[in-house]
Amino acid sequence: MNTNHQNSGDKSLTRRDFLKHSSLAAAGAAALSFPAVLNAQAKTPIKAVIIGAGGRGSGAGSNFLNAAKIVGVEAQIVAVADIFPQQARGGERFGVPQERCFSGFDAFQKALSVPGVNYAILAAPPGFRPAHFKACVEAGVNVFMEKPVAVDGPGCRIMYAAGELAKQKGLKVAAGTQRRHQAGYIETIKRIQDGAIGDIILLRAYWVNNGPIWHRGDRGETELEKQIANWYHYIWLSGDHIVEQHVHNLDVCNWIMNGHPVRCWGQGARQQLGNKSGEIWDHFAIEYDYENGVKMYSYCGQIKRTGSPGVTEFAHGTKGTASPGGSIRPTGGSPWRSTLKLQSDDPYTQEHIDLINAILKDTELNEAKNVTDSTLTAIMGREAAYSGAWVEWDQILNSKFAYGPELLYTDAAAMKWGSFRTLRPPMPGDYSIFSDPPKVATV
Ligand SMILES: NC(=O)c1ccc[n+]([C@@H]2O[C@H](COP(=O)([O-])OP(=O)(O)OC[C@H]3O[C@@H](n4cnc5c(N)ncnc54)[C@H](O)[C@@H]3O)[C@@H](O)[C@H]2O)c1
Repeated sequence: MNTNHQNSGDKSLTRRDFLKHSSLAAAGAAALSFPAVLNAQAKTPIKAVIIGAGGRGSGAGSNFLNAAKIVGVEAQIVAVADIFPQQARGGERFGVPQERCFSGFDAFQKALSVPGVNYAILAAPPGFRPAHFKACVEAGVNVFMEKPVAVDGPGCRIMYAAGELAKQKGLKVAAGTQRRHQAGYIETIKRIQDGAIGDIILLRAYWVNNGPIWHRGDRGETELEKQIANWYHYIWLSGDHIVEQHVHNLDVCNWIMNGHPVRCWGQGARQQLGNKSGEIWDHFAIEYDYENGVKMYSYCGQIKRTGSPGVTEFAHGTKGTASPGGSIRPTGGSPWRSTLKLQSDDPYTQEHIDLINAILKDTELNEAKNVTDSTLTAIMGREAAYSGAWVEWDQILNSKFAYGPELLYTDAAAMKWGSFRTLRPPMPGDYSIFSDPPKVATV
């Protein structure tokens, strides 16, 4: 437990902080997309805002407060932002006064403008993550952001750039790929990387559920309201199942490989979603190639079935196999199990402990690139399956097609309720975001 910083006079802005932030203000002024108040960046007390106050935003809020207690630092949630007023009002459960429970497309800007904010929890649907993350970094705020962090190439490029800017500004960034903060994964993957199973030959990744994804029913007065209420079912908001959830398992494989695949091919379909509104598929199977020739087989789906491998990963090497979450079976040797303990057994709490510690001790923590690499890995797989063609990393990274409304990446706060097109679920052979013009069909 480190409480030194809490008592070291960090509550006011030091001269060094001031110089840092005033030069950043000058450098960043051109890029600011709203009149951001450059918050006084005292490290403590930690003043957090939640942007996207649904299931995970609320959960992460509690995890953050718990983590602060474990670290022993003063912390509070000072504002909440959600697109829907009734969701924003949920901020009351954290003691946030009504006047700081903001709603609307620009709620994130209002929350970030509350004086003293130095920590943001981003848990809106993934399509909004690039806009929200960029705004946090421009405002000089440390970030915990849920995965995935984008839904297409243009969104990932915003994430990479904002992640770099965060690094330059010395901001700390943690991502909701919580396995990277889970003892079993940390210890086992270190061993794999140290050669415990020899050279990696093959990786397998699964997120296979025995049931369909939620649907909240058609509601809202405008098409956009309906889509955002049922965000999982729209590619511009969720990225589809492979991006939205399977990103966790793809991230584990990328972590083991210390890199990302360079190409892939795959297939999938919308088999059981039937006539529910929306664009997404319900299962994917993708074959990925890493640069060194290692293959990763990835399977995900949300369909009703009687059996499934569940949510897990496997690594196969020349000298054994491993479950990266906590065990290794060397060929001809005794099985090994992880026993590492962290400050919390709950990775959802540990990720905030790690972020808070990095802020207090000014140690390096910036997971923006890793989580964006894994998000783009998932997007590459999705587009390979949608189009029915091999897709290369550079092709998806540099792709121009953005799934969302135009303002999403230029001025998300200025978006208005109204209409937005629904895509026909992609049909391999007839679909490509890479052709000019893109081959996509609307309903
Ligand atoms: N790491 C994990 O294990 C884990 C688990 C669950 C969810 N998540 C992630 O958390 C995110 C949210 O998922 P959820 O399950 O909480 O969904 P949810 O629907 O319960 O919550 C999303 C909230 O965001 C709000 N919202 C929508 N657009 C917004 C905008 N532009 N600005 C502000 N708020 C907006 C919605 O009104 C809703 O309250 C997703 O990215 C999801 O992948 C991660």
